[in-house]
Amino acid sequence: MARDRPLLSSRSSSELSRGLAEEDALLTGQPTTRSGPRTWNFWREIGLFVWAVIATAAVIVLAVIYQKAQDSSNGAPPLSGKRNLVFMVSDGMGPTSLSLTRSFMQYTEGAPFNKQLILDKHFIGQSRTRSASSLITDSAAGATAFSCALKSYNGAISVLPNHQPCGTVLEAAKKAGYMTGLVVTTRITDATPATFASHVHMRQEEDLIAQQMVGDHPLGRVVDLIFGGGKCHFLPNSSLSSCRADDKDIVALAQKNGFNYISDRQGFNDLKGGKSIKLPMLGLFADGDIPFEIDRRNEDDHYPSLHEMAETALTALSEATRDSKKGFFLMIEGSRIDHAGHFNDPAAQVHEVLAYDKTMTSVLDFLERDSTQGVMVSTSDHETGGLAAARQLHASYPQYLWYPGPLANASHSAERLDLNYKAFLLSHPSAPKATQRQFVEDSITSGLGIMDASDEEIDALVAQPEISLYLFADMISRRSQTGWSTHGHSAADVNIYSSDPVLAKALVGNHENTEVGDFLREFLDVDVESVTKELREKGIKMMGMEEGESWMGRLPEEGERIDGGDHLKTYEGEFRRRGLEGGVHVGCGCGMH
Ligand SMILES: *[C@@H]1O[C@H](CO)[C@@H](O)[C@H](O)[C@H]1NC(C)=O
Ligand SMILES: *[C@@H]1O[C@H](CO)[C@@H](O)[C@H](O)[C@H]1NC(C)=O
Ligand SMILES: [Zn+2]
Repeated sequence: MARDRPLLSSRSSSELSRGLAEEDALLTGQPTTRSGPRTWNFWREIGLFVWAVIATAAVIVLAVIYQKAQDSSNGAPPLSGKRNLVFMVSDGMGPTSLSLTRSFMQYTEGAPFNKQLILDKHFIGQSRTRSASSLITDSAAGATAFSCALKSYNGAISVLPNHQPCGTVLEAAKKAGYMTGLVVTTRITDATPATFASHVHMRQEEDLIAQQMVGDHPLGRVVDLIFGGGKCHFLPNSSLSSCRADDKDIVALAQKNGFNYISDRQGFNDLKGGKSIKLPMLGLFADGDIPFEIDRRNEDDHYPSLHEMAETALTALSEATRDSKKGFFLMIEGSRIDHAGHFNDPAAQVHEVLAYDKTMTSVLDFLERDSTQGVMVSTSDHETGGLAAARQLHASYPQYLWYPGPLANASHSAERLDLNYKAFLLSHPSAPKATQRQFVEDSITSGLGIMDASDEEIDALVAQPEISLYLFADMISRRSQTGWSTHGHSAADVNIYSSDPVLAKALVGNHENTEVGDFLREFLDVDVESVTKELREKGIKMMGMEEGESWMGRLPEEGERIDGGDHLKTYEGEFRRRGLEGGVHVGCGCGMH
């Protein structure tokens, strides 16, 4: 019956079976039964076929020539030459951070709903983030996927699950003759920057990371420019602001290895935006993390901003490679978007994302005017906080709303108010409850811009100063109706951005995070495998190692890998930061990964 025939098929059944026989012949190489003398028709078909092949080839050749002509007509040199790569990492920034920040920006600027962030205009794809040990990665495994292009366990700093080091794109770039830089707002010894220039079995070993970063490393010094925080890991434990467990002076070690060292705003200003900088350069501008942008912008004379550091680094690296055949590799991290997520502080977060957006503008402007071919690729290692631009506060069906207003009213981060509160308690150990209460109320009105704090909220802050960080953040989150599902990370896919979707076309679409790592090494055309080999050979012979001791620090013991929920215990226990919290930072579990 006609109904049983294949749809759209008008061929008779004999035609159909001949077609099938010919297809069969193509697959098996056996001739069909159709034979007989080769007729005019046969030769005519051959002729047509040859003509078609030649015509197709000609079209392809013309298309390639046309494409080349297009490329050189818009000024871009072919990729075979000198090149620069700027890799930006927005730590802990998921897609919802963008929705939140975009609406916040429109609200504060009175802009129309179609005004976008700079980031939005450079969106090219998404990255899947799981690690080798968990569906939810930490920053160490997340950044190892970028540096080594391999999956490892949570907590691993460019080492693999078999505890062998893996060469990084930065190390390979350095060996190939590129200049290299790391610019962050967290401690430079924190996981993301660490994975590019050091190798340790556990991310908590920040003392060892500091040492490796300034050249106590099997390959010697691999970074030319370092800007960030984390000074406390570079100072010997005899210094008041040290957080090292030993008495090693890593600043002195850095200087011995040729680094020029600066440690404050004045030193940074003297670099004149990168025009008078001597590489290698170690710039550490805070004992721990550089303050959140929401706080820092009022303390501009103390700490450089992310975009200032990025612009200075770009100028410095570009000047330093002016007469070189190779360009530079620079990693820039908006490190503390993640911290705002961990604290569930939406006001701090939108300012961090805006600072990152502004920094991307700086990078794009640089690439635009620089004569060397370059590309910027930006992504996150994971999402933090399980952020939702919605929050159901009551049992009744919620309205479809969230309010940017409370974020705009806040002038301080919850972190800063928490630190102020604890400093107050330390300096007024016997203050009556009424004084303490007054201090809390002032923090809420002047710091958070909240005029309708409830008695319950104030009582909680008076009763539990140890968790005031979370209590302050929650007051903003509830009023803005922003939701959070965790103080940790989530498994959400994260966005990928680029200055050039053609150069970065390998990252268009949805990708595994290791493919971002693949892109970095392929764009720079560097040999990371030989670096891995060299690390393994030279690491064994590293100086000053006792019998059985690894140059990559202690191996994690059973249950010590940062996979499960009890990793905070490990982090805050053995490697407690000395001196920073003044002894009052008790048990809020605010350690960050
Ligand atoms: C400082 O480090 C040395 C080892 O390098 C150690 O013996 C000493 O106990 C440390 N001092 C303090 C106060 O931690
Ligand atoms: C913002 O602060 C002002 C006072 O400075 C206050 O009147 C207003 O209610 C606050 N807005 C929100 C959304 O909390
Ligand atoms: Zn992270």
